[in-house]
Order: sequence, then structure tokens, then C-alpha cells
Amino acid sequence: MSAVAEASGARHALHPLRVAAVEPLTDDSVAITIEVPDELRETFEFQPGQHVAIVRRAGGDELRRSYSICAPVGGPLRVAVKLLPEGRFSRYACSELKPGDTLEVLPPVGRFTPALDPARTRHYAAIAAGSGIAPVMSITSSALDVEPSSRFTLIYGNRTTSSIMFLEELEDLKDRYPDRFQLVHVLSRENPGVELLAGRIDRAKLTRILELLLPPETIDEWFLCGPLQMIEEIRTTLTDKGVAMSTIHRELFHAEDMTPAVATSEVIAEGTGAAVDVILDGRRSTLTVPHDGVSILEAALLVRPDAPFACKGGVCGTCRCRLLEGQVRMDHAYALEDDELADGLVLACQSHPVTDTVVLDFDAV
Ligand SMILES: Cc1cc2nc3c(=O)[nH]c(=O)nc-3n(C[C@H](O)[C@H](O)[C@H](O)COP(=O)(O)OP(=O)(O)OC[C@H]3O[C@@H](n4cnc5c(N)ncnc54)[C@H](O)[C@@H]3O)c2cc1C
Ligand code: FES
Repeated sequence: MSAVAEASGARHALHPLRVAAVEPLTDDSVAITIEVPDELRETFEFQPGQHVAIVRRAGGDELRRSYSICAPVGGPLRVAVKLLPEGRFSRYACSELKPGDTLEVLPPVGRFTPALDPARTRHYAAIAAGSGIAPVMSITSSALDVEPSSRFTLIYGNRTTSSIMFLEELEDLKDRYPDRFQLVHVLSRENPGVELLAGRIDRAKLTRILELLLPPETIDEWFLCGPLQMIEEIRTTLTDKGVAMSTIHRELFHAEDMTPAVATSEVIAEGTGAAVDVILDGRRSTLTVPHDGVSILEAALLVRPDAPFACKGGVCGTCRCRLLEGQVRMDHAYALEDDELADGLVLACQSHPVTDTVVLDFDAV
């Protein structure tokens, strides 16, 4: 069950939006452009690298997934979906979705974004693998466009040339910014003719790339998007080379351990629990949540079906909120950086009350 926006512009509400275009990017991926009506333009304004949660309803089922916006800042709401084996939403997107269909979409969220300023001169580097290019595409094109003195280096890993998403758009960027954009393709299942550019982007490969092409001390900010293991290996390699953790941004699409606990009213009625207040779109709701059981998000959804979420696995950050009172314990917090944790941000889908009273504010993030 979930709430679809009644009042236009509601910050945490789902909005039914029309699909304007579905274009193949490779044999197993598509770009989807979604129409945003004028009255929702402000609600759907995005920063480069942010993502939206998209809901597909079929029969009584709801499929809810996050997709990164691949368009540059100020551009259309466009996302790219790569087909996964057994993937329910990605199969639907790549084989059934067509222009004119309606998807329900939450407004953009996410902190995987540079603070662009036309007066700045920076050298950004991004390392992406597979569909991890989607947010990086937005960040790269926005940075080159908004900051005329900045440079961007992109290291992009794929299996083969034919699996490279946005190949043409990347070539266009190279043509538009020949002096400021450096693009390095790394292929794991095709011989690119240069040993350095063949294989997976692991610690050994990255170390060589840093030595030969990309001295880390020349980079101001790093953007990493790909599988968890790759990102962790890259982060360690970079910090071992003296790169400050605060300059490394990462976006995860998936983690192995993402199983959510499911709530029922019975579970909550039976347990004694903490009194949890949830503040969302200016309205406060009080609920009882067991100390050891379902997450605060699951409990909240029973009384506030408009509570924002997507993965329920601690990865996407759509359910982020601020802890105003009390203490919570989180199972995972992949989507939060250390400074955000220190600042009192938590993920409702991973939070369980520790104290007898807890107040969470979804509006104060
Ligand atoms: C912040 C964020 C941004 C994202 N942006 C994009 C994007 O721009 N483009 C894109 O294609 N995807 C993106 N994703 C991933 C996307 O949300 C879905 O997880 C993905 O499309 C699979 O959904 P599905 O329904 O097809 O697969 P499911 O039916 O949910 O899963 C099928 C199988 O694949 C596994 N699985 C699920 N997701 C992944 C994954 N990402 N990698 C590896 N295994 C997985 C599952 O455990 C399961 O075994 C993003 C995720 C997050 C959290
Ligand atoms: S819903 Fe994705 S982190 Fe909570």
C-alpha cells in the first residue's frame, strides 16, 4: 500500500508521470525519459547524480526501485535501466515499457553530487562500472558544462564494447570538451589492445592507472559507482595513496544483505515497544514499534503509507530522516556517510528503537 500525491508538489509523495520515450542504449539497457508537468517542475528539479524511486503496479503487486538520473542538471528527467538476469523491474522496463505508459515517481533525492560553482577550477575523477555510469553521466556533463575551467577524468569499466552504455554520448562529450574531458575505457572480456585497459578495475589495475594516467594528488573530488566490492577496493586503494576520505563520494546500487523484515499489524499489536513519533510533510504521527522486530519504516507505513522508501535495504537513502529525540539501532547504513551519521541522520528502513521514545523527522534532511 502506498500513497500517490493528491496535492501537487508534496515533497515525499509519489507522482504519476507519463513516459515520454524509451530508447535502447545497448542490447540489454534502455533510457527512459519521463515527462514532468509544469506544476511539478520545481518538485522534480534535481542535482547531478541524484536518483528517483519508480513504482510499477501490476495486479496487486508493487515493484519499487531506484534509478539514477543520467541527464545533466536542468535537463529532462531521464534514467537508464540495465537488464538483470531474473530482474523483475528491469525486465519490464527493457521489454514492455512504452511511451504513453504511466509510472509513479518520487521526487529526486541523494547526496552523490558535486557542489558545482562556475567560479571554481577543479579536477574531478569518476570510476564507474556497468550501469554505474548513469549518475556519473549526469555529474560529468553537468560539471563540464557548469564549470568552464574544470576538468573531468572518467574511468569506465565494462565487459565488452557492445555493453558500454552511453557510448555515443560519451564520444560527444569528448568532442565538445577535448581539453577538459579524459575518458578511459577498461574492458574485462575483450582485448582493447593495451594491457593497462584490459581486465576488471581492481586494486592492482587501479594502482597502475593511478601511476600512469591519473596521479591522485591532482584530483579534487572522486565519484565512485559500481558493485560494493569494487567500490570498497577502490576506496582502500585511494586512501592508501593518501586521498582524504572526505573527497571520495560513492553510490551503491545493491548490497548482498538487503532483506527487509515485513510488518503486519499483529506483529506490532502483540509487542510492547517504544513510542515513536514520525514527522512527515508537516504532520506528526505516533506509533508503537518493538525494540527488536520490524523497522521503524515498516511500522510507520501502516499508519503513514506516504513514508518515502525504495530499497528497504539501507542502500538507496530514500528513507533518510533526522533523529530528533531518543536513540535507534541500525542494521545497515550503506547510504549514509560518516559525517551524516554524526549529524544525526538515520535510515528509517534500518532503524529499531533503543530508547522508549524516539522522534524521527523526514522533513529535516
Ligand atoms: C541509489 C540507486 C540508484 C540506482 N540506479 C540505477 C540505475 O541508474 N540503473 C540501473 O539499471 N539500476 C540502478 N539501480 C538498481 C535498481 O534499483 C534495481 O536494483 C535494479 O534495476 C534491479 O531491479 P530488478 O527488479 O530488475 O531486479 P530484482 O528482481 O530486484 O532482483 C533480481 C536479482 O538481482 C539481484 N540484484 C538486484 N539489484 C541488483 C544490482 N543493482 N546489482 C546486482 N544484483 C542485483 C537481486 O538480489 C536478485 O537476485 C540503482 C539502485 C540504487 C539503490
Ligand atoms: S529505503 Fe533504501 S535506504 Fe531505506
